[in-house]
Amino acid sequence: MQLKDQLIAKIESRSACIGIVGLGYVGLPLALEFAKAGFKVIGYDVSERVVNALNDGKSHIQDVSGAELAKQVKAGKFEATTDESRMQEMDAISIAVPTPLAKTRDPDMRFVLAAADAIGRNCRPGVLVVLESTTYPGTTRELMQPKLEAAGLTIGEDVFLAFSPERVDPGNPIWNTKNTPKIVGGITANCTEVATALYETCLDTVVPVSGTETAELVKLLENTFRSVNIGLVNEMAIVCDKLGVNIWEVIDAAATKPFGFMKFTPGPGIGGHCIPLDPHYLAWKMRTLNYKTRFIDLASEINSEMPAVVVRKVAQALNEEKKAVNGSRVLVLGVAYKRDIDDMRESPALDVIRLLESQGAEVVYHDPYVPKYREDGHEHVSVALTDEEITRADAVVIVTDHTIVDYQRVVRLAGVVVDTRNATAKLAKGKGRIVSLASASPYATV
Ligand SMILES: NC(=O)c1ccc[n+]([C@@H]2O[C@H](COP(=O)([O-])OP(=O)(O)OC[C@H]3O[C@@H](n4cnc5c(N)ncnc54)[C@H](O)[C@@H]3O)[C@@H](O)[C@H]2O)c1
Repeated sequence: MQLKDQLIAKIESRSACIGIVGLGYVGLPLALEFAKAGFKVIGYDVSERVVNALNDGKSHIQDVSGAELAKQVKAGKFEATTDESRMQEMDAISIAVPTPLAKTRDPDMRFVLAAADAIGRNCRPGVLVVLESTTYPGTTRELMQPKLEAAGLTIGEDVFLAFSPERVDPGNPIWNTKNTPKIVGGITANCTEVATALYETCLDTVVPVSGTETAELVKLLENTFRSVNIGLVNEMAIVCDKLGVNIWEVIDAAATKPFGFMKFTPGPGIGGHCIPLDPHYLAWKMRTLNYKTRFIDLASEINSEMPAVVVRKVAQALNEEKKAVNGSRVLVLGVAYKRDIDDMRESPALDVIRLLESQGAEVVYHDPYVPKYREDGHEHVSVALTDEEITRADAVVIVTDHTIVDYQRVVRLAGVVVDTRNATAKLAKGKGRIVSLASASPYATV
């Protein structure tokens, strides 16, 4: 029997040992899906803190329940390790390590290369390797393939190599790792076949594509689509503000069109590990081919400008109260990058706070999901959302609209509320004024 057929048989009988390299937002939920499907799963991570906590049954990822993790650990189905030689036990390895950007906005491939080196050192014939980290088209073929070939293995015959983008949307109550369709593209047809067989064991829908570059580009198209549309609607918010038209009313009315329109909403900017970063992987790749990706650059420019737009709104609102930003106390509501999650990576709230502080404001924040965070060596601690805290603030800025916050109480007590998310739209008026990011307001001069 060919190695390919042997591996597929092992996968189908659940006797294959699954390896997950990188146990974060992406890797941990995937590891548990495989464990729940009946496989023995070994998770490899370089962080001892993460590995020790996971082996104790403690989850550091909001969407992964500690109870489910502890159950799989106890059943011997999931185990975490920092020992790379355990890769020798793995029959299929999915890689979910970070792919950040360098300060120059070039891809930082350190983590992918380190993972590939470790796999190259420990790989043997009859193994499937799948890269899941978001990256530029060509990565799997140009960076991963040589590491396996250096171990004397032939791709598509001895080992199987594929790319399969992760589409998980943290905090999404409907779409999760299991029910979100999974794209798979291999270096060869054999690679695609084995990778498809693997993911079909535990995910609802697998969508094979013709190769690794296609699979890599699918993910970048999806996230560039989001970045560009958010950029468009943010520019529309600025346009509406100048025209004295309520952007939210415009969007809701446009969304009644049953075809040809998809609803996006404006806000204080974009955050998270994906939308602000991923399009730049494509922009970088195209720069190496002497092509400038104009939509990506323009969307990024508009989206990065939004925290400054918010701060100008705060300054105008305070000015109307005959107050300056300098010396005012500003309460920022929500610092996670989006609603109902605890992830602060690339959060626009950080820019809003930094800009307000640079203008002399005394900034405090409240976020039920982020009790504290460190930035530039300083620790910021969430204040309790007491009546006194709301009343004491010269301005309250809603940056992230977590659902458990009582906005009616905020509106009732605050002097000025700057609402970047339309969280206060349907509330009864309070004692102060509400300033929208973009609406018919007396401050329509962003
Ligand atoms: N977070 C998301 O919502 C999301 C969604 C889709 C795709 N992605 C992509 O998935 C990839 C992983 O993102 P994440 O959010 O899970 O990252 P994360 O930071 O939450 O987790 C990454 C883990 O990898 C570990 N790691 C780093 N280097 C390693 C190495 N050489 N070997 C083993 N482990 C190593 C880290 O210690 C960390 O635990 C990225 O490419 C990201 O763009 C993320």
